[in-house]
Amino acid sequence: MTKQPTKQRSKLVVGNWKMHGRLAANAALLEAVARGVQALPADVRVGVCVPFPYLAQTQALLGGSRVVWGAQDVSAHEQGAYTGEVAAGMVADFEAGFAIVGHSERRAYHGESSEVVAQKAQRALAVRLTPIVCVGETLEERESGATERVVGAQLDAVLAALSVEEAACIVVAYEPVWAIGTGKSATSEQAQQVHAFLRARLAAKGAQVADVPLLYGGSVKPENAAELFRQADIDGGLIGGASLKEGDFLAICAAAAAGARVAG
Ligand code: 13P
Repeated sequence: MTKQPTKQRSKLVVGNWKMHGRLAANAALLEAVARGVQALPADVRVGVCVPFPYLAQTQALLGGSRVVWGAQDVSAHEQGAYTGEVAAGMVADFEAGFAIVGHSERRAYHGESSEVVAQKAQRALAVRLTPIVCVGETLEERESGATERVVGAQLDAVLAALSVEEAACIVVAYEPVWAIGTGKSATSEQAQQVHAFLRARLAAKGAQVADVPLLYGGSVKPENAAELFRQADIDGGLIGGASLKEGDFLAICAAAAAGARVAG
């Protein structure tokens, strides 16, 4: 078989702060990240997804920098009597670029089905936010050989709700539940295998969809980032705990820059 040249896709690293942060600490972290990314090559894109109340602060501090900001969720509804919910349009008011949807913590603790996740992705796209659609299997599902069935169904539910043009505008994050916050990352081979599967699924939706960024998330650290980002179908990372430490987050962004060069 002739070796196909590896396709050059730019890298994307997004921090998911989860429910962490306070005004003073955020300011120091955001300013350090904005400063640090200036040294990165242009083919590495960086984002941070902050708690809703800090969108205004993030907009004020990152405006004019090359870091894109976003939220960690949006409502499946456009507006209305949904106490406590935050509409995608409200997030867009703060010039956000991203909205994470379907994180496993929302699926597990807030009962979000893949159909609800699909609606959230649609709401985000309708206001020009890029949805970062999370998929991932539990340890039990992996051990019973159900990984592809589970992540395939999670992705398909979203793709079914979107046109080809819309689907070409999403980002997908593979986050094995057993690797999140556990310190136990998937190996680069395990992650690449699932990413290749997801890539084929995206390509089946349409040729324009095949190259959407596919991020890996789950215990990404400066020590394992470069190896993960070197894989053909891993276009970057969705970073939890390590995104709260400026040194670690910037080191992971730098690893993406190295990964982009290797992939080329
Ligand atoms: P950790 O990087 O803390 O494992 O979290 C990953 C995650 O859930 C990002 O969305």
